[in-house]
Amino acid sequence: MPQKLESLWAERYREDDMPPRPEAASKLSHALETMLAHRSVRAFLPDALPEGLLEWAIAAASSASTSSNMQAWSVIAVRDPAMRDLMAQLSGNQDHVRKAPVFLAWVADLSRLERAAQREDKRDIVLDYLDFFLVSVVDAALAAQNAAIAFEAAGLGITYIGGIRSHVKEVAAALELPPRSFVAFGMCVGWPDPARPASIKPRLPQSVVLHDEKYGHHAEAGLIDAYDSRASAFQQEQNLPPRRWTAHAARQATDHAYVNKRKDLHDVLRALGFPLT
Ligand SMILES: Cc1cc2nc3c(=O)[nH]c(=O)nc-3n(C[C@H](O)[C@H](O)[C@H](O)COP(=O)(O)O)c2cc1C
Repeated sequence: MPQKLESLWAERYREDDMPPRPEAASKLSHALETMLAHRSVRAFLPDALPEGLLEWAIAAASSASTSSNMQAWSVIAVRDPAMRDLMAQLSGNQDHVRKAPVFLAWVADLSRLERAAQREDKRDIVLDYLDFFLVSVVDAALAAQNAAIAFEAAGLGITYIGGIRSHVKEVAAALELPPRSFVAFGMCVGWPDPARPASIKPRLPQSVVLHDEKYGHHAEAGLIDAYDSRASAFQQEQNLPPRRWTAHAARQATDHAYVNKRKDLHDVLRALGFPLT
C-alpha cells in the first residue's frame, strides 16, 4: 500500500487495522488519495477558479453513470456576488456560500425530458411518478460528486449545501428554473484558505457500513461506541465541544426544527412540477 494512502486510511478511520490490499491500492493510488483526503472546506480565498477548470469538472460530472442515459440534471454556476449573497441568504445565511467564488446549484431536472417528449410529439408523459423524482435527484448527486472529486484533485475545496432546500421555491424563482426542475443541493467551490485549514473527519468503521451478503447490525452498537470516542476526540481537536456520533445522529433524527423549516417541501415540489404520484 503506498505510504500516502496508508496514512489517509488511518486518518479517515482512526482504527488500528489496515486492510492489506497493496495491488489494488497502488493502481488506484491517485483517485483514492483524492477521495480519502476529502474534507468540506468552509473558508475560501477570494481568488477565481483557474480558467477552464469548471468546464473540466463538469465534463467529469457528465461522465458519471446516469439512469437510462436520461441525464436528468443540470447545474447553474453562480459567480455574481449579489446572486451569491442571495444564495447564501436562502441557504440559512451560510457565509461560506457568500465567500466562495463559485456556487454551483445542482438541479434535479426532468424539464429537458419533457421538452424532448414535446419535440417528438409525445403527450402521454409519465414524469409525474415518484420514481422519476428519484432518478433526477440520484443523477444530480452522482454528477455533483464526480465534479467534487475533479475540483478536489485540482487542489480546490468544496462543500455541499443542503441548506438551500429550506427555500426551494425562492431559489427556483431566482434562478429562473423551468417547471419540472428544482435545486436539490448547492456546492461552494474555491481555493481553501490555508490560514483556516479543514481536517479529515473520521467516518464509521467499515465493519458498520459494509455488510457481507446480508444486512446485519447485531454487533453495530459496540463498534459504534468505539467510533463515538474517536468522533468525540476529533471534535475536541477542532476546538468544538466533544460530541459522540450517536448523540449527533440521534439529534438529527429527532430535529423537529429542521423538518419544520421544510414542512412545505412536498407542496413546493408539487408546485414546481414534481407531483410524486
Ligand atoms: C447533501 C449534503 C448537504 C450538505 N449541506 C451542508 C450545508 O448546508 N452546509 C454545510 O456547511 N455543510 C453541508 N454539508 C457537508 C456535511 O456537513 C459534511 O459533508 C459532513 O459533515 C462530513 O464532513 P466532511 O465533508 O468534512 O467529511 C452537506 C453535505 C451533503 C452531502
